[in-house]
Amino acid sequence: MPATVILGGHWGDEGKGKVIDLLAANCSYNVRYSGGANAGHTVVNEHGSFALHQVPSGVFHPGVVPMLAAGVVVDPQALLEEIATLRAQGVSLDRLHVSERAHLVMPYHKALDTAMEARRGERRLGTTGKGIGPAYSDKAARDGLRVGDMLDRKRFAELVRQSVEAANRQLVALYGAEPVDAEHVLDQSEEWARQLGPYICDVERELRYGLSRGQMVLLEGAQGALLDIDAGSYPYVTSSSTGVAGACASAGIPVQSVGPVVAALHAYMTRVGEGPFPTEQENGIGEHLRVVGKEFGTTTGRARRCGWFDAAASRYIVDLNGVTSLAITKLDILDGLDPLKLCVGYEIDGKIIDYVPARPELLFRAEPVYEELPGWQGRTTPARTWEELPDGARAYVRRIEELMGVPVSIISVGPARDETIILRDPLSM
Ligand code: GDP
Ligand code: IMO
Ligand code: MG
Repeated sequence: MPATVILGGHWGDEGKGKVIDLLAANCSYNVRYSGGANAGHTVVNEHGSFALHQVPSGVFHPGVVPMLAAGVVVDPQALLEEIATLRAQGVSLDRLHVSERAHLVMPYHKALDTAMEARRGERRLGTTGKGIGPAYSDKAARDGLRVGDMLDRKRFAELVRQSVEAANRQLVALYGAEPVDAEHVLDQSEEWARQLGPYICDVERELRYGLSRGQMVLLEGAQGALLDIDAGSYPYVTSSSTGVAGACASAGIPVQSVGPVVAALHAYMTRVGEGPFPTEQENGIGEHLRVVGKEFGTTTGRARRCGWFDAAASRYIVDLNGVTSLAITKLDILDGLDPLKLCVGYEIDGKIIDYVPARPELLFRAEPVYEELPGWQGRTTPARTWEELPDGARAYVRRIEELMGVPVSIISVGPARDETIILRDPLSM
């Protein structure tokens, strides 16, 4: 049984949480492979409505082992709070596995994230402030603390003390910011080690073993593939590898073990934070998408920027990640909008191209080339089959499918698990 990757094909918030909750039903393992508490995945199912940040979205299925793999940066304080919140909502977290190899997001990483954004001024990135960039920087610099370090309490305390001292020197001397309270962090870290200890293990080894026995592994992306550190419009990206290659590296499994790759794409685009967004609509259309689509961040509450579906950017992600099928989400948000536009390329300095240029400054001045399609009357949310969708909605989905060059497997017409049309089984494509 090959592993399946479910990734976001845009700049995040495509509805990955909903799609994973739906597809995890028959899986043995559901593995978060990138990012940290910067993610916000909303799941609405028969148990209630949940905002997940680090815990994988398939946690609601009793047969699924939820895991955080090596490539995740784990915020221990936030994870313990999330576990407590979910437990209070009746969700069992007993099966949670956290990789020894994953790095820790420490309080000073969050302080550094805020200080670095303040220093960037006009050139700020609009990060979530969750310490993601500084935690991955320490990892790359070989100065990071890993989840597994917590298993040797005495050594961990020493490492924490040294790291806090080094970070405080940076915070004060480089950024003129307040230092973090070393004693408080030490107290906290003792508590994290005590409470998280039972979840810590060699996740990657267990996954390879599971695959060898034919068990089904669902790899869960966070952020969007357009925010990937290499593929995205750097520096307006996150600090991890959000695509399929990142999934394998993080989960410690061979690339050949990945079969289906499902990209969640919303029927339009959103972006939170700074960075180029050629199809952004700073007008009534954008407002419609934001209000009807409830486009406000799950993690930071920020209003998401909204615009038309960008087929050029989406196709880039499909090709880059070997996507095998698409989950088109939030189709219902386009109900009543007429006409609809799809961006099929960009005009940049008088030249028309159909690909995403590497340099963000080019994308900042790109004028989208649009194709127009008629909208539809009536609601898509009650539809459970392809035939029940309005003609215009079917034509819109078909056109996206043509432009992406891969089939649509799922159409989502509402936030709840059952507000879904399954055209084909994405796990066998
Ligand atoms: P993620 O980060 O990709 O998991 O996406 P988020 O959960 O941050 O944002 C997606 C939002 O849209 C959440 O509030 C979901 O409950 C909601 N959602 C997902 N699919 C649909 C859909 O098809 N229709 C509507 N109306 N809402 C949806
Ligand atoms: P999910 O998993 C949307 C964005 C931030 C910022 C940039 C860098 O819910 O799709 P970071 O804090 O990662 O250093 O911020 O990335 N960003 C997201 N946008 N959804 C997310 O996660 C995001 N995670 C990070 O807004 O522009
Ligand atoms: Mg989100």
